[in-house]
Amino acid sequence: MSDSGIFRRKAIVPSSQMASEHQLARTLSWPHLVALGVGAIVGTGILTLIGVGADRAGPAVILSFAIAGAICACAALAYAEMSTMMPVSGSAYTYSYAVLGEVIAWVVGWSLLAEYTLVVATVAVGWSGYAVGFLSGLGIALPDALTHGPTMVDGAVTNWGINVPALFIVAVVAGLLTLGTKESATLNAILVVVKLIALAVFVAVALPYFDTANMKPFSPYGFAKHLSDGGVERGVMAAAAIIFFAFYGFDAISTAAEEAKNPGRDLSIGIVGSMLACVVIYMLVAVAAVGAIGYARFADSPEPLALILRELGQGGAAAFLAASAIIALPTVILAFLYGQSRIFFVMARDRLLPEGLAKVSRRGVPVRITMFTAAVVMLFAGFLPIDAIAALANAGTLTAFVAVAVCMLVMRRRAPDMHRPFRTPAAWVVGAGAVLGCLYLFISLPSTTQLWFLGWNVVGLAIYFLTMGARKAN
Ligand code: ALA
Repeated sequence: MSDSGIFRRKAIVPSSQMASEHQLARTLSWPHLVALGVGAIVGTGILTLIGVGADRAGPAVILSFAIAGAICACAALAYAEMSTMMPVSGSAYTYSYAVLGEVIAWVVGWSLLAEYTLVVATVAVGWSGYAVGFLSGLGIALPDALTHGPTMVDGAVTNWGINVPALFIVAVVAGLLTLGTKESATLNAILVVVKLIALAVFVAVALPYFDTANMKPFSPYGFAKHLSDGGVERGVMAAAAIIFFAFYGFDAISTAAEEAKNPGRDLSIGIVGSMLACVVIYMLVAVAAVGAIGYARFADSPEPLALILRELGQGGAAAFLAASAIIALPTVILAFLYGQSRIFFVMARDRLLPEGLAKVSRRGVPVRITMFTAAVVMLFAGFLPIDAIAALANAGTLTAFVAVAVCMLVMRRRAPDMHRPFRTPAAWVVGAGAVLGCLYLFISLPSTTQLWFLGWNVVGLAIYFLTMGARKAN
């Protein structure tokens, strides 16, 4: 540790200096890492939030994808540099503790807890949309009130409900995790292929219906966020702030830094390659979607891509897409629930959270954390609309991305000669792009999201300062 008090920093131990029993076997090369990244990235963002994005920006949602992708690519490079310098658990929280000090690490860790919890809830609600649509295609119609959370208009509930399928999938995945089930690389690879084939089928079927009439007006709400007549915050950047959700998950690759055969090469190809692959895939899907039918027809659908295919008279392809989503989306839930328990675990090990929470079962699984997280996730997934949850998850992620980019820049100044297995090219430009881009996306989020997020961190800081005495006494 260096410094003292709230700005004390954790010492960095380069992987080369770790005891050999603490070094993981280096078995992964870049194709594994690209598969790992694409597996964690492709999910509800492209399958469901594309509708929310189109509602905010019109056909210009295509630009929102490009902007969010470019900002994420900058953040991804910063992650690659930091994760190879500090290949230890805890991701952005750990880097912040080592570089920026304890209180900043607390804010980042606290934001990550919100991010991971809310991502799981968002993906569960997205899964529910496709599951309900698929079941109704089989003639099984669930009661409407059991397929969505309460619908709010102007702050008043207009349609009560609880999203039971979303609760179901969280319970199933959390149950699997507490049994000690880990994502196997092979299963992940198969499900990545399933997801990619589903999106390829969508593009192949929808693109021939492309009609330029559907692209006009291209950008009905303009570029910057503003309040539209309907009271919704719209514009290309408002959409990008939501679509941002579709791109993260690549931190899963950075956590594999210690296991890469040649981190300098494999990590950069893995992170940048999976990001670029996703940008290209997403742009194709977005062009095919908004070009096939008027965006207003799918904008508020819980299963927009399946709906587009059905409207085009392609029921078989729609059923295939929905079935693929139902099978493959739970891997994203699994990855983030698992990540959540690691962040909790590291924060508790650092005694910033009660150590008892991080207790592991005989199988080595942090059961209490997993069950506690699943219960909180269920509250969000069962009762809140997908756009509200995704926006809050994005706020937490943007905070973590800014922190990682700042860590990278601070370390370039503080320790320019430290060994870096991966060096971000044009680090100052890329770092500034990540920080400024993420900040712009943050201010483009709905104002209520920003307030909720602020409130969450005020509560977090209050807990940090109130428990400081207790932590010192221990
Ligand atoms: N990028 C992930 C998804 O879209 C979180 O589901």
